[in-house]
Amino acid sequence: MAMSANAVKAVSTTAMAVSLIRSVHSHHAPDPLLHDAWSDVFVSSSMRKQVRRVLLPEMQRLGSASMDDYLQHHPSYAAIVMRERFTEDALFRTLDEDIEQYVLLGAGFDAFAWRYPSMMERLNLFEVDLPDTQQYKQERLETSGIRTPSNLHFVAADFTQSNLRQSLVSGGFNLDKKAFFSWLGVTLYLPRDVNIEMFRQFSNLAPAGGYLAFSYIDDCLLTGAEAGSAKWKAYQRVRAEVERAGEPWVCGFNPDTLPDLLEECGLTLLEDLDGYDLLERFGDGGDQCMLPAPFSRVALAKINPLH
Ligand SMILES: C[S@@+](CC[C@H](N)C(=O)[O-])C[C@H]1O[C@@H](n2cnc3c(N)ncnc32)[C@H](O)[C@@H]1O
Repeated sequence: MAMSANAVKAVSTTAMAVSLIRSVHSHHAPDPLLHDAWSDVFVSSSMRKQVRRVLLPEMQRLGSASMDDYLQHHPSYAAIVMRERFTEDALFRTLDEDIEQYVLLGAGFDAFAWRYPSMMERLNLFEVDLPDTQQYKQERLETSGIRTPSNLHFVAADFTQSNLRQSLVSGGFNLDKKAFFSWLGVTLYLPRDVNIEMFRQFSNLAPAGGYLAFSYIDDCLLTGAEAGSAKWKAYQRVRAEVERAGEPWVCGFNPDTLPDLLEECGLTLLEDLDGYDLLERFGDGGDQCMLPAPFSRVALAKINPLH
């Protein structure tokens, strides 16, 4: 059954915006850090209008020539491209460690399943998201006549409802097999206690030796400790946009205390990179808009044995 107008309105606008950013980079960078122009499939023209409505005040203030131009100069542009590249690189590096399951938590319009057909021959992929966003994605695939690989499993779940384990298992997830979890662009939308409960769940979901890649914002921005700084000003701009989208940022973490927090939750932090570290690692792909993201970070942690 086609989605109701209310359900369509509930589709994540931020998920569409980040998908559009990946496409802008893929289309315009001379040597893109990743090839993902899948917003062309996932973001319908009416959904583009929905994103545009959220961005319009800033587009007008800055006199942007087009939405693509605006997105390319957005403070989150580099972070969105690089966190994906960071995570996929980490996944490819660790595949030989018996990782057979890849779980996209808050998958949005991630297109891994179609961008890497050869990977889909060795991985079971689980896309977890809220039902409306997930249904919209499936409808776009159907409308466009794009086949869903048989080992891609859509799992509808709400992280605030603590039903992740049950939902994953019902979707075919094997608790006895190692997994790589990707949780990009999501922690900032969830209350802190929900994030911490999620961190605690990983060693309950998969055997030790699996991984979690996740992005987060530095919580000094939320406390206002850096008020007035360039980083804070960029954050204020994005904050207004996500609030207009109805998806406010509510949680950040302190990079200094993150390792201990994760350790208490059964995870060992391996890497935690800011925008400068990411630029140093990946370069800019010849894309002059790939400026160090001022407030986003991306981290990789290993799942410890359950104790
Ligand atoms: C900014 S988008 C990021 C999407 C994707 N990870 C990416 O980087 O392209 C945030 C995603 O988190 C999902 N999300 C937000 N709150 C959630 C919740 N409580 N439970 C499950 N998914 C949630 C949204 O529906 C959306 O798809």
